[in-house]
Amino acid sequence: MKIDVLTLFPEMFEGVFGASILGKARGKGLVKLGTVNFRDFSNSKHGTVDDTPYGGGGGMVLKPEPLFAAVESLTEGRTSGSRPRVILMCPQGERFTQRKAEELARESHLILICGHYEGYDERIREHLVTDELSIGDYVLTGGELAAMVVVDAVVRLLPGVLGNEASASEDSFSTGLLEYPHYTRPADFRGWKVPDVLLSGHHERIAEWRRRESLRRTLQRRPDLLEKAELTDKDRRWLEE
Ligand code: ADE
Repeated sequence: MKIDVLTLFPEMFEGVFGASILGKARGKGLVKLGTVNFRDFSNSKHGTVDDTPYGGGGGMVLKPEPLFAAVESLTEGRTSGSRPRVILMCPQGERFTQRKAEELARESHLILICGHYEGYDERIREHLVTDELSIGDYVLTGGELAAMVVVDAVVRLLPGVLGNEASASEDSFSTGLLEYPHYTRPADFRGWKVPDVLLSGHHERIAEWRRRESLRRTLQRRPDLLEKAELTDKDRRWLEE
């Protein structure tokens, strides 16, 4: 997979793309991560990328030309293959979820666009992008942090990125539920004991305990998730207890 981020602040991505799991995935050639400064595609000699809004009002609006040219520079010359998803990071976008991360992880090329201004010229929304994504109901100073969130959540799903293949399919949200509690040594820490069942070596009982704890935690913290989760009859009986 290839992911290109269009931003006026490519330096913000240096640490995130180079460190930890993303850095390793890149090193192993599992993903190509790039940044493009779309100011380089400005059609003015001063590198202007924004302008005042037609109709008046405060704030600046990102002009269409630099963003169209930057996206086209990444797609021109391509003769075959699927078209890239061109994703605009903005608070008005569709809410980013684990399901969306799974969908994007199946693509071969993503282009993420980050703005730092009041808004985007509407023609960018209408004719350049395929998706608009928001990472939550709050307003950031720009789309960069949101793009980092999306890249991180997508890349960790790519085959070979996580050491333990089971870890992505079992974590919170992939099952539709929150994760069960985890414990490691010591079995007794300051008198706080690890549940006996986890020390029992009885795999079936452990699996049952984990499922029940996942359900309990989801019911307590995110009951909304239970509506969409795939539940067995046994799960439903536990929830009713
Ligand atoms: N840009 C500013 N705020 C944002 C948000 N919540 N999600 C995505 N992009 C943004």
